[in-house]
Amino acid sequence: MEITFKEVDFAYPAYALPVQPILHQISFQLPTASWNVLVGSIGSGKSTLLQLAAGLLTPTKGSILWDQQVFLAGEKKLPKRPPVGLVTQSPDTQLFELTVRREIAFGPMNQGCSPTEVDEHVQTAMSWVGLSKKLADRSPFHLSGGEKRKVALASLLAMKPRVLLLDEPTAGLDAKGKQQLIKQLRWLQREQGITLLIVTHHLEEMLPYIDQLFVLSEGKMAMQGAPDQLFRHPNRWKELGLPLPEITEFIATLNNRFQLSISLQEGSIESVLKELEATLMSRGDL
Ligand SMILES: Nc1ncnc2c1ncn2[C@@H]1O[C@H](COP(=O)(O)OP(=O)(O)OP(=O)(O)O)[C@@H](O)[C@H]1O
Ligand SMILES: [Mg+2]
Repeated sequence: MEITFKEVDFAYPAYALPVQPILHQISFQLPTASWNVLVGSIGSGKSTLLQLAAGLLTPTKGSILWDQQVFLAGEKKLPKRPPVGLVTQSPDTQLFELTVRREIAFGPMNQGCSPTEVDEHVQTAMSWVGLSKKLADRSPFHLSGGEKRKVALASLLAMKPRVLLLDEPTAGLDAKGKQQLIKQLRWLQREQGITLLIVTHHLEEMLPYIDQLFVLSEGKMAMQGAPDQLFRHPNRWKELGLPLPEITEFIATLNNRFQLSISLQEGSIESVLKELEATLMSRGDL
């Protein structure tokens, strides 16, 4: 499923004037089954943008389309089976049931699935996010931060969304947990055709998979496009106060020093080495 923003402005309703606009003239399109990443400094409007995309807030100006349909929060009720799911920055606040199983079952039950289907959805969702079956009868409130995050994601996946909006999903996970989650998201995107929009402060964790990168600065879209293109303007990143991933800076230096053209989107030392080896061999230097 596609999501399109057309010249979207947004301001939170204010009880005292003046109303502070938070987002200005935001336009973009997320194609079906694409991996999109949104970065920007604290308070730049990232979480607000995700809530607009999820249909939880209404633009002050402009329009938001789910596929070809204009969706305005408040004007129409969210559909019973919303195709767009959001895991917020503090997923704890999304949890409310007595057990993990009931938490994940809540969505499919509300969608009118039969008990057998609900069970199936719960099991599938738990295995997708790598949640141990042993946790099914535990209270979601007595889990670790990382486990709570997984329960929130599984609850969403159990409703079979077509678009996943994730606000800093790797925060609070250990290195193995991060790797597992990224692998799982890659599978959902490629095999299930799910469109992803992810807010992160750690681009390097998902670098090779990103199709489109969006950089917000004070509510405006400062840059948008393929990461390899955007990384060619390191001064712009400096102006915006955003660091480039270390590996990207390293590849840029390597390219400049030795006239190489390794993609700035390579995400691991191993893949950089492979590219380097291939270039040196083609030059007859190896
Ligand atoms: N409910 C609200 N009412 C009024 N203003 C709000 C509300 N939520 C956020 N804001 C303001 O909107 C701006 C953008 O907030 P937002 O949470 O979207 O930023 P962010 O980029 O997600 O920041 P962070 O990296 O800290 O999560 C901030 O100035 C914030 O104070
Ligand atoms: Mg935020």
